[in-house]
Amino acid sequence: MEGVLTWVPAAWAAAGLAELPGVDVQVVALGRDMGETGATAGETGACAGATGAAASSTPATVGDVEFYVPSFFPSLAGTAVLAQMKRLRVVQTLTAGVDWLRPHLPPGVTLCNARGAHDASTAEWVVAAMLGALRGFPAFSAAQAAGERAYQGTGQLADKTVLIVGYGSIGAAVERRLAGFEVTVRRVARGARPGVAGVADLPALLPEADVVVLLVPYTPETAGLADAGFLGRMKDGALLVNAARGAVVDTAALVAEVSRGRLRAALDVTDPEPLPPGHPLWSLPGVFLTPHVAASTPVSRRRAAGLVREQVLAYTRGEPLRNVIDGTY
Ligand SMILES: NC(=O)c1ccc[n+]([C@@H]2O[C@H](COP(=O)([O-])OP(=O)(O)OC[C@H]3O[C@@H](n4cnc5c(N)ncnc54)[C@H](OP(=O)(O)O)[C@@H]3O)[C@@H](O)[C@H]2O)c1
Repeated sequence: MEGVLTWVPAAWAAAGLAELPGVDVQVVALGRDMGETGATAGETGACAGATGAAASSTPATVGDVEFYVPSFFPSLAGTAVLAQMKRLRVVQTLTAGVDWLRPHLPPGVTLCNARGAHDASTAEWVVAAMLGALRGFPAFSAAQAAGERAYQGTGQLADKTVLIVGYGSIGAAVERRLAGFEVTVRRVARGARPGVAGVADLPALLPEADVVVLLVPYTPETAGLADAGFLGRMKDGALLVNAARGAVVDTAALVAEVSRGRLRAALDVTDPEPLPPGHPLWSLPGVFLTPHVAASTPVSRRRAAGLVREQVLAYTRGEPLRNVIDGTY
């Protein structure tokens, strides 16, 4: 290998890489890719010039990898291989969250996330989940499957207060999408700044919110953030929307609140994930579940691939990389 050896986990993530001067690309799938459904053949399309490898074996070139893009879904093989990458300089994730990778990062290796690539998909999921839950779509869908016409008035989004906890890249994208829905948006981030409250303000803001959207990264500070106290402060009948990470919520406390009929929830992520058969969240009325699909769309793949290309190019030119994780997340 003469150029910067770059491993990507799927052909779509290699889009445009093989044409870059001084870059050698290998497609090495060591974990599960983003879902195939919803993508057309063209959108998942192969990358000319990239070479592929089976997931079952680690290619002999592992010691030459300088730039590594792990698979979208965490895998043991995908993180264990880091120890064999003796020339590794950069790990670029396809995900915005890096909680799953940080503990395995070798010292001195730069970690970059995919902040921004999943804003549109994830913000769309948040708005869809909010609207679907408030307009009773899960119940209507169940009635349809049973062949029943179940007339029932529903709630609505207009005139509601939406509290975005974790007002970052995706949080701001959610607010932009809510602009036409006649809602009041409140924002929370780590520290207060103009227009954005700090976490310390949560106790005062939670009782006022009809919808609470979780979009924080998973860190030691956010683990169990939505605990019994947090959920207990939420308004009767309020909706919790979690598109962050499952363990940001205390699942037992949420199950208790929903079982009492006090709160409802729309969850793309759960703790544990996946939920085991028979877990109460599967069947509790008032819970709407999707299997961590908020970012699993063609537009996310395209934008993540574009980011990978930009980052590899910047690396080969000695230019600064974007989305470098140098703080706590
Ligand atoms: N479900 C999915 O498929 C999916 C898809 C994409 C992302 N995600 C999750 O969404 C998360 C957010 O992504 P993003 O790109 O929007 O990240 P981001 O731009 O880094 O924004 C994160 C926000 O969370 C805030 N925050 C951090 N720690 C906090 C704390 N302890 N208490 C309150 N707020 C805190 C940050 O505050 P400051 O602004 O003060 O730093 C920032 O506003 C990701 O980390 C990932 O876990 C899930």
